[in-house]
Amino acid sequence: MEIRIYKQGDFDDVMALWDRCDLLRPWNDAETDIERNQYHDAELFLVAAVGDEVVGTIMGGYDGHRGSAYYLGVHPDYRSRGIANALISRLEKKLIARGCPKLQLAIRDDNDALDAVIGMYEKLGYEIQDTVCIGKRLIDD
Ligand code: ACO
Repeated sequence: MEIRIYKQGDFDDVMALWDRCDLLRPWNDAETDIERNQYHDAELFLVAAVGDEVVGTIMGGYDGHRGSAYYLGVHPDYRSRGIANALISRLEKKLIARGCPKLQLAIRDDNDALDAVIGMYEKLGYEIQDTVCIGKRLIDD
């Protein structure tokens, strides 16, 4: 398994993976999300590949104040082998190399395995923070 930066040829695999991992939402156009990422923070969009197949992804970002992570997903056939841990750890290293002091991420309330995913992050040193997450859509996809 290799962790590397996303490249254009991965697009179909990534879409299929996100669908399989239930990461697609009607209000986020995933293709546009990738396009935006490629103009902004392309080196923080990482994939886990086994041979030619993309089996995991994480899309990171850094806005100068904090880092973020989205679209963490691992193909069901490849879960429980540490691939998510490896993706998160690689993203953390890349953020630290940029001088990013902290990383914040959101897990949707309706995640099928919410407690398990929270547990995974807690094992990696993340903690639930005392904040209310507020958002506003600026561009409708
Ligand atoms: N069910 C049970 N345990 C889980 C689950 C789950 N669905 N997800 C994570 N865990 C925990 C377990 O403690 C597990 O340890 P174990 O295998 O020893 O039991 C550990 O996390 C696994 O760690 P990894 O092997 O590194 O994780 P994996 O490669 O299996 O991927 C992931 C975990 C990415 C959460 C995967 O289950 C998945 O793709 N789920 C669907 C998409 C999703 O929920 N993504 C997170 C969205 S949050 C975000 O993007 C910021």
